[in-house]
Amino acid sequence: MASVLSLAATVHQRLADALSAALPEAGAADPLLRRSDRADFQANGMLALAKKLKGNPRELAAKVVESLPAGELIADIEVSGPGFLNITVSDEAIVKTLAARAADARLGVPYAESPGTTVVDYAQPNVAKEMHVGHLRSAVIGDAVVRILEFAGEKVVRRHHIGDWGTQFGMLIQYLLEHPHELDHKAATGDQGAGDDKDLAASGEEAMSNLNRLYKAARALFDSDEEFKERSRRRVVDLQAGDAETIALWHRFVDESKIYFYSVFDKLDMDIRDPDVVGESGYNDMLAETCRLLEESGVAVRSEGALCVFFEDVKGPDGNPVPLIVQKSDGGFGYAATDLSAIRDRIQNLQADSLVYVVDARQSLHFKMVFETARRIGWLNEKTHAYQLAFGTVLGKDGKPFKTREGETVRLGDLLDEAIERATAVVREKSKGKIDLTEEEIAERGAQVGIGAVKYADLSTSAARDYKFDLDQMVSLNGDTSVYLQYAYARIQSILRLAGEGQKPVAHPELPLAPAERALGLHLDQFAEILREVAAGYEPHKLAAYLYQLASFYTTFYDKCPVLKAEGGPAQVENRLFLCDLTARTLHQGMDLLGIRTPERL
Ligand code: ARG
Repeated sequence: MASVLSLAATVHQRLADALSAALPEAGAADPLLRRSDRADFQANGMLALAKKLKGNPRELAAKVVESLPAGELIADIEVSGPGFLNITVSDEAIVKTLAARAADARLGVPYAESPGTTVVDYAQPNVAKEMHVGHLRSAVIGDAVVRILEFAGEKVVRRHHIGDWGTQFGMLIQYLLEHPHELDHKAATGDQGAGDDKDLAASGEEAMSNLNRLYKAARALFDSDEEFKERSRRRVVDLQAGDAETIALWHRFVDESKIYFYSVFDKLDMDIRDPDVVGESGYNDMLAETCRLLEESGVAVRSEGALCVFFEDVKGPDGNPVPLIVQKSDGGFGYAATDLSAIRDRIQNLQADSLVYVVDARQSLHFKMVFETARRIGWLNEKTHAYQLAFGTVLGKDGKPFKTREGETVRLGDLLDEAIERATAVVREKSKGKIDLTEEEIAERGAQVGIGAVKYADLSTSAARDYKFDLDQMVSLNGDTSVYLQYAYARIQSILRLAGEGQKPVAHPELPLAPAERALGLHLDQFAEILREVAAGYEPHKLAAYLYQLASFYTTFYDKCPVLKAEGGPAQVENRLFLCDLTARTLHQGMDLLGIRTPERL
């Protein structure tokens, strides 16, 4: 695997060398190179440097030009304005660089120089509860971040911190104990073996509806029957004490919920693995020790019986400090003790150096306090970082938090089904009279397009922002949607198929490029740099933006430059097929990193 230096990096290096040759006293100065509309690149570094050295920026820029070695890289360079350099690279250099990318299975993308271990905490629904759009966001963003980091060579440990512990289980377990058949599944119907996904979806739904029914019934009894309430309280104590029968029943809730979770993740085309599901209960054995360490180090103090950590800048509306409560006055441990124990586990046992939490922005204060606490005691330090990749709220078309008309939480499964249904209609309509797809193919592609649409809508806005869940917009063929990208990819594949055996994608660096070819080529060349930025800042939306621009450049190229009927003869046909092919591979790779499929035919 050969990583390929981008043209921007090569030009930057040449300029930096020329700059230090022209002006040895400047040391290693940055020419400040960026992409530009005027030429391919513009370098502004001479301005600040001339100012610093009290020289004339235009003269300095001219000297840099003189010091540049002749070669095939730069076709044109001129001093402009107060002392910028406008640089045009040669067509030959563009095609040669792209050919080097094309020759590499990773498209010339290098591995990170010093990869580490990152724990990504994402896709963390709660046991015995329905998943909601917030869980969807965490899953979609987290999955993309995992893929992007792994592609960069980082070791990634996935953690699904599901809500599987807490006092509510006392009530649920007690109810199940008194009504033992409430979680039984109906006998499996239909022909066994066929339609695996459908079976999974159906048992997922049945599991969730069982849990819902049980939850409601238990709640009603809990609220109306004092004796049941008391029995439930005692059951919490049994659960915490690890009583075997109680734990067995608790397991049934977790297992039942997992059937449901996995059915949703499967619909989302997401690979969630059982060993990575380490819920709140997984840290039980560490809680007391965590508290002891915090108390002994003085990071946490007893206040009104509770073990608390205080912060200068966290105060309630009354001006009194609001502490992070690690242990309640009744001895119970909560969400914070669990998260602090999880940090210890991830840093000390998993040997992670970065922790990323893909969690709703409404939990930001919690994480701020948890991270600060961990820093005070030294679990987090210069070598270990924690970062909340906080995401905004999912809004309905009306701009209010996403709810059904009745004001209830929208069931995730239903929502995804609707997206698939709409996308299937689009696929069916578009393929009519153009390509023959069987019903099965239409259904398969409908799912890939529908799920892709949901993921892309989420990933194309920066995570911190709220975003509107608008299915009409999501499955639109035009505009910044995954459907647009998927069709661009499929269109290229169809051209490549049409070209057949006789005409192959082959780079021809000797050919002059049309403006639309240059624009596409220069954008293709930026893939690796964008990925580095995306991985460093955990920002999948920048990858989505890059891919959308890529598809747009491709569309312009396709409109302006006939491929199979290129007027310049067979070599130009091959060169254009080469650009098509590299665009397709880049789209495919980029979409894959976002967790979105690119069907070959649509
Ligand atoms: N289960 C929580 C929820 O549904 C999210 C858990 C986030 N992760 C964590 N380590 N606290 O809101």
